[in-house]
Amino acid sequence: MSEEQSRSLAHDAWVPKLPASGHGYIIINAKSNAEAIETRSKIGSARRNANGNLLHKSAIGLAQKGAAQQREIVMRLTTAATAGFRVSRFERMRLNLLPTMKMRSEWIDATMLRDFETEGTDAHRLCTIDDGWVERFGRDILISFKNAPTRERLTLELNLWGTAVGFKFGRIFIRFLPRKNEEREKPRLLFGSKEENLQTLVTERHLKFGIDFGSGYSVGLFVDQRENRSYVRKIAPKRLLNCFAYTCSFSVAATSVGAKTVNVDLSKKSLARGRENFSLNSLPSNDHQFIADDVFAVLPRLARKGEKFDAIILDPPTFSRSRRGKAFHVEHDFEKLLLLALELTERDGCILLSTNCSTLREHALEVMARYCLKAARRAGKFHRQPPLPDFSPNMGASSTWLCLR
Ligand SMILES: C[S@@+](CC[C@H](N)C(=O)[O-])C[C@H]1O[C@@H](n2cnc3c(N)ncnc32)[C@H](O)[C@@H]1O
Repeated sequence: MSEEQSRSLAHDAWVPKLPASGHGYIIINAKSNAEAIETRSKIGSARRNANGNLLHKSAIGLAQKGAAQQREIVMRLTTAATAGFRVSRFERMRLNLLPTMKMRSEWIDATMLRDFETEGTDAHRLCTIDDGWVERFGRDILISFKNAPTRERLTLELNLWGTAVGFKFGRIFIRFLPRKNEEREKPRLLFGSKEENLQTLVTERHLKFGIDFGSGYSVGLFVDQRENRSYVRKIAPKRLLNCFAYTCSFSVAATSVGAKTVNVDLSKKSLARGRENFSLNSLPSNDHQFIADDVFAVLPRLARKGEKFDAIILDPPTFSRSRRGKAFHVEHDFEKLLLLALELTERDGCILLSTNCSTLREHALEVMARYCLKAARRAGKFHRQPPLPDFSPNMGASSTWLCLR
């Protein structure tokens, strides 16, 4: 085998840590001649999966012995003759196995995948690691990454995970996670047909939402708000004020249980997608309000009119700038926002406080909210929804519900 061949093979092969069920394979992308890794055992168990990759069960032994970090293994090259595998020769092969390339339990397992299907959800995380994550939107996959090694690792592991749990994905999109908002780009297609529509549909607990891989950095649904949307359905508010509404997913959840909603967002386009989300669920949107303006201008207006709401959603971005050029920094301005919202909340209404800002975890949000309650002479208690099973602890948005008394 030439050095070049060996290198490309090394990129295509890696050893998973065994999932609890005890199945594990070494996978090598099929080339014109099939190749299998021999772990000093018989090759009889090798078979092809639906993608034409060669799966070799004897890798289980290797993985079990913790030899996955071995840099060099003896490999047996075979050719895929119709009559079976024919041994051609043995090679000593160097694997580019970084310790981090072992598959770890950051990926959801087959049971969780089935649970999501059963509850009518096909938009959720598949995996979260320090420098990236993988989400599923129906049959499509979005890999978000902070650097190239993470992108490579998640792409490789996705194939392995798909085989292990029997999930056949459609397209793969990739998206770079920049430090600065202004460097954000829309997802790029890595695998799949360019001709296919970039818009698709997903469901969350049987509600439908539109996804668009071509409209910008965010695709239309923040899956880490799933439990908060469920809480909205549970408390069934009569009137919901959705601040920073984006594609109005919270309003769809509230309307599905009988609410009338007011949706405020700077972006007309996002609000138009919000209306589409209503119609996807056969919910008329004519008697709901969609206000394309700055939340800080709209809230005092609503207060002057004496409007009241049973539920208010405050899930602002970490930073934004209004059309009038006014900057919003969540760390400094959340208090001001909550004080405005408290004026609009019914006596026993609920306010969702949620943010992606890493310095504002739940405890900090609740300390800030206590101060605001005192200033507004209101009383309330906090409620936190259960953690999301598809997220590792402290990943995703920090959220708490302030329920007034
Ligand atoms: C993090 S997203 C909100 C996500 C939304 N809560 C959801 O779960 O789908 C931020 C949204 O806030 C909007 N936005 C940012 N600053 C705003 C402001 N000052 N007033 C109104 N909307 C604003 C953006 O246009 C964007 O749609």
